[in-house]
Amino acid sequence: MRVAVGSDHAGYDAKQEVVQMLEEHGHEVRDMGAYSRESVDYPDIAVAVSECVARGEADRGILVCGTGIGMSITANKVRGIRAALCYDEFTARAAREHNDANVLAVGSRTTAAYAILRIVGIFLDTQFAGGRHAARVQKIAECERKHGGC
Ligand code: RB5
Repeated sequence: MRVAVGSDHAGYDAKQEVVQMLEEHGHEVRDMGAYSRESVDYPDIAVAVSECVARGEADRGILVCGTGIGMSITANKVRGIRAALCYDEFTARAAREHNDANVLAVGSRTTAAYAILRIVGIFLDTQFAGGRHAARVQKIAECERKHGGC
């Protein structure tokens, strides 16, 4: 799978672990920064990763900041993005099965590194369930058309 990955300074260490794990599992990883623990603004990274997914250059996006909140808020402003802030295996699975989320946001200050790796694995391995959920996801797209994204 082609996976775009990004973090701010707070998520840098966890993002490095995510990149390593994904490469070890044979995924095609696009690391869009941060490239050090030096302070950066999370919206810049969230937009870069989300646009990559929205353009179809990556199948999924993974974003890490301190809480995952800023990353998820920003990513959901990009047209075509359904970003889910997940904090355990249940939410990661539900984000894919029910919401067909294409971007995952996690918090390095709220979620342990080993749990982040588990969450990422589930997010990439779980299929959208479709069925009744498809009509609801369609309504998200209609909402986006009505209210606009960037
Ligand atoms: C950075 O201090 C922090 O605000 C950021 O990582 C994130 O938690 C924002 O939502």
